[in-house]
This record gives sequence, structure tokens and C-alpha cells, in this order.
Amino acid sequence: MKKISLTGIKPTGDLHIGNYFGAIKPALELAEEYDARYFIADYHALNTMKDPKELNSTIRQVAAGWLAGGLNPEKVIFYRQSSIPEVFELTTMFMAFTAKGLMNRAHAYKDAINKNKENGKTGEETDSGINMGLFTYPVLMAADIIIFDSDIVPVGKDQVQHIEMAQDIAQSINANYGQQVLKIPQAAVQKDVAVVPGLDGRKMSKSYGNIIPLFAPEKTLRKTIMRITTNSQSVEEPKDPDTSQIFQLYKLFSNADEQAALANRYRAGGMGWGEAKEELFQAVNRLLTPIRERYETYMADIPALDKILEQGAQKARPIAAATVKRLRKAAGIDL
Ligand code: ADP
Ligand code: TRP
Repeated sequence: MKKISLTGIKPTGDLHIGNYFGAIKPALELAEEYDARYFIADYHALNTMKDPKELNSTIRQVAAGWLAGGLNPEKVIFYRQSSIPEVFELTTMFMAFTAKGLMNRAHAYKDAINKNKENGKTGEETDSGINMGLFTYPVLMAADIIIFDSDIVPVGKDQVQHIEMAQDIAQSINANYGQQVLKIPQAAVQKDVAVVPGLDGRKMSKSYGNIIPLFAPEKTLRKTIMRITTNSQSVEEPKDPDTSQIFQLYKLFSNADEQAALANRYRAGGMGWGEAKEELFQAVNRLLTPIRERYETYMADIPALDKILEQGAQKARPIAAATVKRLRKAAGIDL
């Protein structure tokens, strides 16, 4: 039997090419080797997103984005967290085994406290703006993972602490009942994923406003790429491809021969930054056009998109129910 891999995706919208190369593509590649499960973590998003229209729309955008990126719903299980009520039942049981002190140590919570302190808040006020959803985030995440008997959880480094907390919670439950009621998950940190640079050379990120969107229409895509910041070298001057973020981005969209050929043109001089950007635009557009077209097809038929997620939930729920039943039995609640 194949091992189980599970990933949660927060529906925060505005997918960009950093998300594609850093998260979507590597996570989808795991479906070759693992029995893969992917879900839209919509209840997690609720902690920060309070506008119903916006949340409703980003859930669909992100679902369509993953499908357009190559997620095959026939081959993997793809669902919305909110469609699996068993997750919330498990979360409640996990609460009884989670030390409050463990949550006090969670990075996201500590960062929020520190931000308040930096803004001059003291005493009880350091908790201001922090909801219980944020405080108990690791418990819900542990339930997301453990309910599907996950062996590995592919995540970025920032999420490793959450997986360790999931291990802690599962281990204390297993120890309490003296049996392996729950499977202990392992983090699989994606090591070789390079950081995709943004328009200004910093890490591409929504919060820096330097993104190249994954699904922008061709015209917007060209305009965005033309905004990449460059130095003031003239057209004639030879340029160093290794220090240019235009070339770093180009590498993601081309093969070794194409890269070598363009690097030679950089070094030879006679090619201005405008032309380098045009080459980048052509390569990006070539790769993204079919993905964008698939995305638009999914977004044009929301009922069909919702049906895909619903069918995924139907595959997922019996697995989730079995885990809850196991724990209820062990706990003496399943009479
Ligand atoms: P953002 O920084 O735009 O808010 P998120 O934090 O929502 O992006 O990231 C979602 C996923 O995409 C994470 O797995 C993250 O590691 C990956 N990711 C985001 N930006 C980049 C980037 N510039 N390069 C590589 N991976 C990225
Ligand atoms: N916390 C993750 C993030 O911010 C999203 C997430 C929620 C998740 N539940 C999960 C990831 C379960 C992996 C497994 O990116």
C-alpha cells in the first residue's frame, strides 16, 4: 500500500508564480509516489477573512488554481475542510489533550503578541486582535492531518512546528489509551524549492506587492513583467545573467539549452533590459497560457467546480469517520 501524503491549502487568493513553483508544482508531484490528499483549509482562512464574498470567491479561485495546475481529482482526494464535519469533532477531542502551554509557544501566536508589544501594548492588551481561532490553530491543523492517517505532510519550514505539535497531541492520546489509536505524521520539508524572486528582487509575496499573478490575462502579464526593476546598464553593456532576477525567473520557464543561449546573449552585450523582459514574457506566457485557459474553464462553471470538491468530500468522509470512531471507542464515548 502506498503511503499517505496530505497538504492543506489556505484559500487566500491571488495565486502567483512563487506559489506555483514553491508549493503547487512540488505538492502535485507527490501524487506519483503517494496516496495524495489535498484540501482547501477554509475554516483556517476564516480566522483572518471576515468578508463572506471575498472568502467565497477565494475558495473557488484557489480550487480552480490547483486543478488548472494539474491536480487530478480522479487520482487524488481533493476537498474542502468545511465539508468534513468529523474534522471539527476530532478537534474538540484533541482540545482535551492539548496543553494550553503548548499553544502559548506556537510561533504564529507569539508573533502576534510580539507585534502588539512593539505597538506599545502591555498586560492583557498584548492579546488584542488575537482570536481563539488563531490561538488554537495548531489543534485544528493536527486534526486535519491525523484524521486522514497521514504519513507525511509536505510543508514549508514555517509549518514544521505545527506538525511537531500534531505529533505531540497524537502521542499523548496514544500513551493515555495504551494503544496506537492515531498515526503519527511526519513533516516533509521541501528543501530544494528555490525562492522565486518578485518584481523588486525580494521574495515574491502578496505582502510585498511584487507578484507576477498566475492567471493574469496576457496584456496584464506583459505589463507586470515590464515593471521588473533593473539597474541602469545601457543596451550595449554586457550583463550578468546570474545576478539578474529577470534571468532567474526565465530559468523557471525554460530548458537548459534555452537558458544557455539566452545567458550568452546577456553576456555578449547589445541586449537591453527591455528585450530581456520580452524574452521572459514570451517564455512565461507560453507555459502559463494552457494553465490560464484551464483555470478560466473551471471558473466559468462554478457548479461543476463545487461538484468536484463535493465528490472529493464524499471520498474523504468515510476515512475521517473511521478515525473519529476509533478515538471515540478508545475514549469510552462510543457506547
Ligand atoms: P505569500 O508570501 O504570497 O503570502 P503564501 O505564504 O500564501 O504566499 O505561500 C503559499 C505557499 O507558496 C507556501 O508553501 C510558500 O512556501 C509558497 N511560496 C510563496 N511565495 C514563494 C516564493 N516567492 N518562492 C517560493 N515559494 C513560495
Ligand atoms: N497552516 C498551513 C499554512 O498556513 C495550512 C494548513 C492547514 C495545512 N491545515 C493543514 C497544511 C494541514 C498541511 C496540513 O500553509
